[in-house]
Amino acid sequence: MNSSQEPHAGPDTGPPESGLPTAEWGAEQRQGDDTDAPEDGYFGASVAENYDDPSSDMFAPAAVEPAADLLAALAVGGPALEFGIGTGRIALPLARRGVPVHGIDLSRAMVEKLRAKPGGDAIGVTIGDFASTVVPGRGGFAVAYLVFNTIMNLTTQAEQVACFRNAAAHLAPGGTFVIEVGVPELRLLPPGQNAVPFQITANRWAFDHYDVATQAMSSNYVEVVDGRGSYRSIPFRYVWPAELDLMAQLAGMRLRDRWEGWGREPFTNESGRHVSVWEKAASADQPDGANPANRGDQLGA
Ligand SMILES: C[S@@+](CC[C@H](N)C(=O)[O-])C[C@H]1O[C@@H](n2cnc3c(N)ncnc32)[C@H](O)[C@@H]1O
Repeated sequence: MNSSQEPHAGPDTGPPESGLPTAEWGAEQRQGDDTDAPEDGYFGASVAENYDDPSSDMFAPAAVEPAADLLAALAVGGPALEFGIGTGRIALPLARRGVPVHGIDLSRAMVEKLRAKPGGDAIGVTIGDFASTVVPGRGGFAVAYLVFNTIMNLTTQAEQVACFRNAAAHLAPGGTFVIEVGVPELRLLPPGQNAVPFQITANRWAFDHYDVATQAMSSNYVEVVDGRGSYRSIPFRYVWPAELDLMAQLAGMRLRDRWEGWGREPFTNESGRHVSVWEKAASADQPDGANPANRGDQLGA
């Protein structure tokens, strides 16, 4: 897959596709090195230090500028909220287009890197989990967005649903929620097997491991350097486009557009990723699932 910490993007691709820098994938510890604060999750100081990689495709203007353009067009001058803002790869160019941006992120280390960049101190950031954290301006954002496969960092369906509900709660009526995420690569999984190798070199072996019963998956990296072995495993939950649409519906949103990329390329059955846009209904027009009184979890209350 291609994404946020996502698994890879196909054969011979690996760490860079995951949203973590290549250098970090050799680290022995599950979440970076021993100096990383556990509360920063998988994006501690050792990862944040090398996260911005100008040589990576994801940092190239060809990747960043169309994303900022599309998000600015959706914001139409209103405020934007980024879930998992990180070092501001997308937030900063979006802010340069005149869009007020607020972010949520678990990792103080990543946000420190954002703060150190020109314009970074003008972006409000709330430290917390984007599945549940409430920020000032709730109910008034024109657009909320979650890019680079970061929805997959939420490793249960319940958390992913909560993320949609949190996004919807922060949007103004008619506002949009945008996700960029890979299409699950289960077609690479032969019958009877649960692992797909995606990088094999003389000293490095990497594979995705799938649990198709739960949609849990992990990207796993084994490396030998100077005769010393290391292993790293990053957990994800893969999620289908149609499942995301249902999560949106539960949160009172409906699909407005789905493209293969930020350039609004058509989404086809060969697309490896999608950029999807859901729109929050106006209050008079809410689907049943958006009305708390109509939710299944309210039955019997
Ligand atoms: C792959 S990076 C993406 C950063 C940035 N959006 C970009 O496109 O470069 C994922 C970011 O999401 C943050 N993150 C992951 N799970 C999170 C969660 N549940 N709540 C808040 N932030 C989270 C990480 O700390 C990290 O900064």
